[in-house]
Amino acid sequence: MNPLTLPVSRTPAYVIDVAALKKNLQTAARIKKESGCKILLATKAFATPATFPIMREVLDGTTASGLYEAKLGREEFGKEVHVFSPAYKEEEIKEFLGLADDIYFNSIAQLRRFLPTVKQAGKKTGIRFNPGYSKATVGGALYDPCSPTSRFGILPKELDQVPWDDVHILHAHALCEAMHDGSVGLIEHIGKNFGPYIKRVKAVNFGGGHFINKKGYDVDALIKAIKEFRAAYNVEVILEPGGALVYNAGYLVATVLDIHPNEKNTAILDASATCHMPDSLLIPFTPPVIGAGEPGAHPHNYLLGARTCMTGDVFGEYSFPQPLKAGDQIIFGDGLQYNLVQATTFNGTPLPDIVLLNENGKCELARGFGYEDFRKRLG
Ligand SMILES: Cc1ncc(COP(=O)(O)O)c(C=O)c1O
Repeated sequence: MNPLTLPVSRTPAYVIDVAALKKNLQTAARIKKESGCKILLATKAFATPATFPIMREVLDGTTASGLYEAKLGREEFGKEVHVFSPAYKEEEIKEFLGLADDIYFNSIAQLRRFLPTVKQAGKKTGIRFNPGYSKATVGGALYDPCSPTSRFGILPKELDQVPWDDVHILHAHALCEAMHDGSVGLIEHIGKNFGPYIKRVKAVNFGGGHFINKKGYDVDALIKAIKEFRAAYNVEVILEPGGALVYNAGYLVATVLDIHPNEKNTAILDASATCHMPDSLLIPFTPPVIGAGEPGAHPHNYLLGARTCMTGDVFGEYSFPQPLKAGDQIIFGDGLQYNLVQATTFNGTPLPDIVLLNENGKCELARGFGYEDFRKRLG
């Protein structure tokens, strides 16, 4: 049995730990206060409106990867809305401009094409470039925005063709779950190699992937690097983390439905890696389970698998102090980042409830889902 159970009325459920979220936000607040930078929430990683009143108290706004995220940021979060897309469509640019304060382009061709419309709307432009900094990403080439075949950002050799008089923000996103050495390294790399271009803009956005709430991340080192950069170039600095803001601030809670014996015993759960934690299969990684250890650490070993038809829909192999049985609760840690935003109903699997674990220890349902949500999408 796990030492911890959560008082949810049904599973699967994503449980947002409000106290942990606030603690994470305190790190962002300190970075902002001590370095003078702005911090935006990258809504691609987490975008649950029920938490926005808390997040909005600290963060400066949101950054969107597409139209719907921009609309969500504008309608539900408020404050600043930044947008980056690898390419915009002619018919949607006006809608984007109605929602965003700052619109970032991925090519000089798109920047030139849409510049008159952006100016007419009185909005600000950014240009994303590829700083060629691949040192601090997890997950290999799949997650390296600076890889030689990356489609993100203009290349350094194109920088001279940018109409700088019309560009407000220089943007680079190069990190994935990077510790302070990655964040500081990126800031120093850009400062050292791209000075003439930094001098042409009002702000530099160092993207996401700064894993500021991970144990061992030296927040003071990041603050120092931002302060030095701002002092050297007299520009505003923006960070747009996603995952780090909700890192370890919630759970995916499941129930054991049955135990399937084979060479290894599988505990079949009502949660699915494919549907509810897809990155764990894609990156891949084995998500932590509260009260469980690596195989062999405790006497009772199990694979934790889903009830979908996909053979590989397995969270991983774990060991438990006691045998598992139907009805036991399984709590996956770090259950929020990139999970709620990517969840699917493959196989007719229900979407997990979204639950707030309030500071008084009580769970509050923020949103439940049902057959209608599945049916609607199928047309
Ligand atoms: C442009 C951009 N900004 C911010 C982020 C957020 O990154 P993270 O959630 O790793 O902090 C991403 C993630 O892919 C991104 O592509």
